[in-house]
Amino acid sequence: MKKILVTGSVGQIGSELTMLLRELYGNDNVVAGGNRTKPSGQLLESGPFEIVDCTDATKLTEIVKKYNIDTIYHLAAILSAVAEAKPNLAWNVNINGLYNVLEVARENNCAVFTPSSIGAFGPSTPPDDTPQDTIQRPNTMYGVTKVAGELLCDYYYKRFNVDTRGVRYPGIISNETLPGGGTTDYAVDIYYEAIKKKQYTSFLKAGTFLDMMYMPDALKAAVDIMEADPAKLIHRNAFNISTMSFDPEMLGASIRKHIPEFKLNYDVDEMRQAIADSWPNNMDDSAAKEEWGWNYDFDLAKMTEDMLTVLTKKLK
Ligand code: SER
Repeated sequence: MKKILVTGSVGQIGSELTMLLRELYGNDNVVAGGNRTKPSGQLLESGPFEIVDCTDATKLTEIVKKYNIDTIYHLAAILSAVAEAKPNLAWNVNINGLYNVLEVARENNCAVFTPSSIGAFGPSTPPDDTPQDTIQRPNTMYGVTKVAGELLCDYYYKRFNVDTRGVRYPGIISNETLPGGGTTDYAVDIYYEAIKKKQYTSFLKAGTFLDMMYMPDALKAAVDIMEADPAKLIHRNAFNISTMSFDPEMLGASIRKHIPEFKLNYDVDEMRQAIADSWPNNMDDSAAKEEWGWNYDFDLAKMTEDMLTVLTKKLK
């Protein structure tokens, strides 16, 4: 059985991925690592929790040895909008943190899952059907750290045979833990506000198309790629994965099917708009389909139905 450490386990993806990994591999075999925020409820009660700051290599090594960890899901990261506001912090967490994780993995023979992002692309990248291998010249600190991270993971595999794997996540929509400081966060907030106030003010303009994904598909991708037959992986790291592409208007229309009076307004945030404008509209994920059988369950209509059902109960 795998022995897993999840960094960033209290974050948007981590809080749900940790629970899924515990279901699959056993509660005691999955250590939830968190830094600033302590977990609560199920996440805290269902298995081990350790304070792990990925920028602290000594502590990281201590935890990996203590639990005989063989697989690290490295989710601790600074998202795009916060990274623009605090580039120094983003560099430290996204680059130095990843470097520490890869070094610990090399020394202790661990496999490593690292998410990259649509943010690894930039304004000169072909925006439609963005190929797996293409121009990557992002103009954000987040993007710089993501491209460097992709290359670092490839390097650790080629140079040291560390079993690194990863995907480029689109914006992730979920109803358990809120995302913290991303450009795609509007697509989460909109559901909460639609239920609470029947209206939402978007910080991205109408016509801003971005790749998006519902959390269950994002979790499946993380598990599936780590379980994939390594002999079939040509790329290993940074696979494009894609399920839906929409702009605020399309998302609003899908909500209106359930809440007809829902109103969508705009108050554009120039910084996040510029970030979104530099990212692809939709990625070509054929390499992920061919190399490890990537597929998904949720399109926009199915996700909206599920989000509204779950959040209506939760917000009562
Ligand atoms: N969801 C992330 C962000 O908006 C992109 O990977 O920063």
